[in-house]
Amino acid sequence: KVADLKGLKRGYLKLCVITTAKYFAPEVLGRFCRRHQGVDVALKVTNRDSVLERLIANKDDLYILGQNPERDLEMIAMPFAPNPLHVIAHRDHPLAHERNIPVERLSEEYFIMREPGSGIRDYVLKTFGEAGLKPRVRMELGSNEAIKHAIYGQLGLSVLSLHTLALEAESSALAILDVKGFPLERQWYVAHAKGKELSVVAGAFIDFLGEESARLCRQLDETRARLTRFQPPA
Ligand code: PGA
Repeated sequence: KVADLKGLKRGYLKLCVITTAKYFAPEVLGRFCRRHQGVDVALKVTNRDSVLERLIANKDDLYILGQNPERDLEMIAMPFAPNPLHVIAHRDHPLAHERNIPVERLSEEYFIMREPGSGIRDYVLKTFGEAGLKPRVRMELGSNEAIKHAIYGQLGLSVLSLHTLALEAESSALAILDVKGFPLERQWYVAHAKGKELSVVAGAFIDFLGEESARLCRQLDETRARLTRFQPPA
């Protein structure tokens, strides 16, 4: 494509992403802007309910969501990369070295939960509900970073997207638990209102997300390897 060979001369992309996508979207945007030097970008980060409101009101060019909305919305949503959710604990937690932890075991532990309106919260509550379980919620926090710090403080366990741990070093106090049925495999979707006429820049960005997918998968594998404290199967 001409746009890929030469880089777009000019253009503007307004992207709105769900809270947890802030762990990879700015980096992807940076790589996109290096390829297309004439493009300016704006990034809005907000939770699921508000992303969907903005989408309905057609406020941005493109949206990134953590799942395909079940609500009957007039939109096109295309998956482009995995968004696995893992159970995370302090690395000194006794479960950090165990294998095949039954999900029922989790209901004996305190849980830290995202705020109402969060996509991850809904998904976690649904998953527990389907197993006939109810998490013992010790606190609700409106940010993934605050949840990570609460885990450092040994206040409980939580379910987080693996992307939120991308900058955690091997020496981090966080550990991925080997819980049966986890990770919950979800996808990132890029979306826009149905019938919307996409700009050349928006079209180029959708293609670019497809290209970035392999790099994002590699990054997830590396994060998983760094934060796994149980012995992986031989
Ligand atoms: P959240 O959504 O940041 O609103 O929880 C992310 C997701 O649904 O994966």
